[in-house]
Amino acid sequence: MSEPDATIRSIGVIGAGTMGSGIAQVIAQAGFPVTMVDRRDEDLVRGLKAVEKSLGRLVKKGTLDDAAAQAVRGRISTSTDVPRLAGADLVIEAIYEDQSAKSELFRSLDGVVDHAAILASNTSSISISALAATVSHPDRFVGLHFFNPVPVLPLVEVVRGLQTADETIEQVTEFTQTIGKSPVVVQDMPGFAVNRILIPMINEAVFALSDGVAGRDELDSVMTLGAGHPMGPLTLADLIGLDVCLSIMEVLHRDLGDDKYRPAPLLRKMVASGKLGRKTGEGFYVYEGAA
Ligand code: 3HC
Repeated sequence: MSEPDATIRSIGVIGAGTMGSGIAQVIAQAGFPVTMVDRRDEDLVRGLKAVEKSLGRLVKKGTLDDAAAQAVRGRISTSTDVPRLAGADLVIEAIYEDQSAKSELFRSLDGVVDHAAILASNTSSISISALAATVSHPDRFVGLHFFNPVPVLPLVEVVRGLQTADETIEQVTEFTQTIGKSPVVVQDMPGFAVNRILIPMINEAVFALSDGVAGRDELDSVMTLGAGHPMGPLTLADLIGLDVCLSIMEVLHRDLGDDKYRPAPLLRKMVASGKLGRKTGEGFYVYEGAA
């Protein structure tokens, strides 16, 4: 596959976790070279392993052949140095959800990339307008919110901050289409669109569980069998991470100021006890052999 014809050609992804590695993978699958940056080599190795596993699934089911998977791997380079992204047209940040860590990263990126580069955050809940205020070209700052598992789910929420220019929206919308995703432009409001709807549903399922409406398996079954969801809300909470669900509920509650977004006490208790879902081996379910 030759490199696609596009205005955005050189891409960096910062953060090699589930989301960052998934984003790097779909970009490489679309034929673009991509540099994945993280602070430690072991984080990059873990990210590449996740890509390997996902490509393995695609090869197994015949979506990709071995040669194409090999080419995808070859297009992903890794580095622990942010300055390696100096020539990037687009940098997508996908580090942990912490506003000051993200702001600090964008400030350092600002001194590295060209003034024409677009900076994007995959944040699930932090204000894009606030992050944009940390860089010298906030008109070229935008939210690009991907969904887990990134190689499977088509949506990218393109989040327009107060300062984001129309041209930036147009360029990233075109880019997300080029990498095979379906962009939807949304405004910079707490939770954007998906998490504003999805995470309160999960939170309500946790209330229903603690209220004894039904058991864990039954609550998941009613939503798969009765509402056609691909997985029940408690299974989904474990996939997303209970800490992530809680922090999104806290943002909705704080920034929208409405008690209908009050986090379920059981959700708080589980996060406090370290039961964060798949990533810790236990959430509402137990995951044998998980890291
Ligand atoms: N890479 C590549 N392929 C993958 C994959 C991965 N990481 N994970 C799953 N797949 C593929 C499988 O190979 C399979 O392909 P096939 O149907 O062609 O054989 C297909 O996806 C379905 O996978 P499974 O058969 O293993 O399992 P399921 O049918 O249960 O699907 C699921 C798994 C895709 C996760 C599906 O249950 C699903 O879509 N669940 C909802 C996920 C969701 O809502 N995510 C959004 C979370 S919110 C978010 O991310 C935002 C954040 O800000 C919080």
